Amino acid sequence: MNRARHIAIIMDGNGRWAQQRGMQRIKGHEKGAEVVRHITTFCANHDEVEVLTLYAFSTENWKRPKMEVDFLMRLLDNWLQKELPTYQKERVRFEVIGDISKFSKKLQERINLTRELTKNNTKLTQVLALNYGGRDEIIRACKRAKEANAPIDEANFEAFFDAQIGEVDMLIRTGGEKRISNFLLWRIAYAELFFTDTLWPDFTPEELASLIDEFKKRHRRFGGI
Ligand code: FPP
Repeated sequence: MNRARHIAIIMDGNGRWAQQRGMQRIKGHEKGAEVVRHITTFCANHDEVEVLTLYAFSTENWKRPKMEVDFLMRLLDNWLQKELPTYQKERVRFEVIGDISKFSKKLQERINLTRELTKNNTKLTQVLALNYGGRDEIIRACKRAKEANAPIDEANFEAFFDAQIGEVDMLIRTGGEKRISNFLLWRIAYAELFFTDTLWPDFTPEELASLIDEFKKRHRRFGGI
């Protein structure tokens, strides 16, 4: 039976969710952040899930209006501060992939502090992809391997990535688009893909549970027969 050890989600549709309600796009991100909490808590209490990786800010998202980018940065900072009790209560370890050196010093400190304070939690690793691009991470890994003067092969390459979180089992994208958008390129080689029209702010633990059920029924062959 397939095991949903690592679930990765492209959380799309916040802007549309808000616009459909006559609200500013940023209201969709606010609601989306609440959904992150519900989905994280569900995964922390699920027997199989060990890693939940969420695409929170891509290397392309800087192209958005400054007001929206600034809002997302503030939201993240406040959210990490506010959610610390949830991380501790649910025993969730917080991890990051992406180039956070482009963020403000204050936000970098908040990210590093959250990482430090939650490092011994063992029920789930929640990975936020922040200023993340899959190609960007592969290039960083190559540079690190070169600096270490280490030979690269398929088995050891992940050791040079931003975090050692392993292969993805399920990749889910909400919001109706059917694209990978430069997410986790190396680690999704054999992931099962799921696309749902549900906008991220409407995504629920119940829908995730039904996608996991569907995943269990799929025949994963990993190139074999
Ligand atoms: C995509 O929706 C979503 C993002 C670019 C940001 C994701 C952010 C959150 C879910 C909230 C913040 C997260 C945390 C962890 C605090 P979109 O804006 O592209 O939606 P659209 O396709 O409808 O325009």
